[in-house]
Amino acid sequence: MASSLQYLLFSTLLLFFSKSLAQQSFRPKALVIPVSKDPSTLQYITSINQRTPSLSIDLVLDVGGQFLWVDCENNYVSSTYRPARCNSAQCSLARASGCGDCFSAPRPGCNHNTCGVSPDNTVTGTATSGEVAQDVVSVQSTNGSNPGRVVTVPKFIFSCAPTSLLEGLASGVVGMAGLGRTRIGLPSQFAAAFSFNRKFAICLSSATTAMGVVFFGDGPYVFLPGIDVSQSLQYTPLFINPVSTASAFTQGEPSSEYFIGVKSIQIDDTPVSINTTLLSIDKKGVGGTKISTVNPYTVLESSIYKAVTRAFVTAASARNIARVAGVAPFDTCFNASSILGTRLGASVPTIRLVLQNENVIWRIFGANSMVQVSDEVLCLAFVNGGSNPRTSIVIGGHQLEDNLIQFDLATSRLGFSSTLRGRQTTCANFNFTSIA
Ligand SMILES: *[C@@H]1O[C@H](CO)[C@@H](O)[C@H](O)[C@H]1NC(C)=O
Ligand SMILES: *[C@@H]1O[C@H](CO)[C@@H](O)[C@H](O)[C@H]1NC(C)=O
Ligand SMILES: *[C@@H]1O[C@H](CO)[C@@H](O)[C@H](O)[C@H]1NC(C)=O
Ligand SMILES: *[C@@H]1O[C@H](CO)[C@@H](O)[C@H](O)[C@H]1NC(C)=O
Repeated sequence: MASSLQYLLFSTLLLFFSKSLAQQSFRPKALVIPVSKDPSTLQYITSINQRTPSLSIDLVLDVGGQFLWVDCENNYVSSTYRPARCNSAQCSLARASGCGDCFSAPRPGCNHNTCGVSPDNTVTGTATSGEVAQDVVSVQSTNGSNPGRVVTVPKFIFSCAPTSLLEGLASGVVGMAGLGRTRIGLPSQFAAAFSFNRKFAICLSSATTAMGVVFFGDGPYVFLPGIDVSQSLQYTPLFINPVSTASAFTQGEPSSEYFIGVKSIQIDDTPVSINTTLLSIDKKGVGGTKISTVNPYTVLESSIYKAVTRAFVTAASARNIARVAGVAPFDTCFNASSILGTRLGASVPTIRLVLQNENVIWRIFGANSMVQVSDEVLCLAFVNGGSNPRTSIVIGGHQLEDNLIQFDLATSRLGFSSTLRGRQTTCANFNFTSIA
């Protein structure tokens, strides 16, 4: 009796070991996480599993955000939570400043002798301080076409934040997932954990009812009906802004956000006259063009905004498109009945962002330039950023939707697909049927 029990124990242990060995030896080439769009805030929401026992948590996706931060004050329960001790390797990876103590009863987010960073709510522009910590994170692997087995990073580094930092974020989320260019951004940690390239790609769905995706690692990136978008990208250099764009930062820290070089803007092939000084990043880190998933619409410095909207209105009237009164936050709106629909969205003048040369152009067609605000009215989905914004052009969510955008951190290169509608698919067409 005893020996058969022993045998049973032994064989379960063996099974356990061989299972965990198998899991260890399975090395994913890429990972995939879903992204939905919150209809009330227009924020993009992703989900990952964290903690022990494992819990699915919803986070606002911030493509240029510094790291993962979560609310540890409210209901953070996990047997695998470990605060980062002062002067540990985790603290230096996180570029943590100083060493802290917390004098109330120890709990996640409040421990003795730990280092801290500044978690940043980039929607409201608020930063607090937060304990650096690590805990288990798991996500699904992918072969590019479907999700596969779940893989685990046992010591994923993140920052705790107080519940108050969630203010302004979509209801139900517990933090933000920062995909920015830092050593503890999600792309770098996943790439280090599974030894794949420091690359990731976002594909945001335009529908609030259907999910888009983020891939970590290299392509293929396949969308139904079997279209591998990674094979047909255009590329442009990514630039590093030497001055942090975070709400709180230490001197000398570069920005974790992704900047590209727009050289000029054309509307229906006609160049728009703009002050080109605004298009480059100066020594103080002001100017240039960045990609953002926390701005729902592209934001243009006011002189660029005025020039672009004026040129757009002129080109639209040449097509007999009738202008109507603005609808906040937009002031360039048109009578929908004067605009035809096409596969690429409303048939309106094409906006072209000219990148490093005349052969590398980010084309914005109706589906990405216009937003339907009522049955009768379509508006140009760009907003005025005022006269002294930190960054002159912020390419926002509406302009990114149904485009696949790949970020390669090692080669500092951005790949972009232009609208997938031109290829008879959309970002909502990833096949989420798991083949694990
Ligand atoms: C991924 O796996 C599925 C199921 O085995 C297969 O149908 C598909 O072709 C694979 N995709 C790639 C890109 O290898
Ligand atoms: C162009 O923009 C720069 C930076 O804001 C400014 O200093 C300069 O005066 C502007 N030039 C013109 C002609 O408006
Ligand atoms: C749009 O145009 C139609 C047809 O000319 C007209 O009946 C309608 O009132 C216009 N709508 C607006 C909002 O101007
Ligand atoms: C999605 O993937 C599953 C698993 O490979 C496959 O059986 C199914 O046919 C795919 N769905 C579509 C619509 O092709």
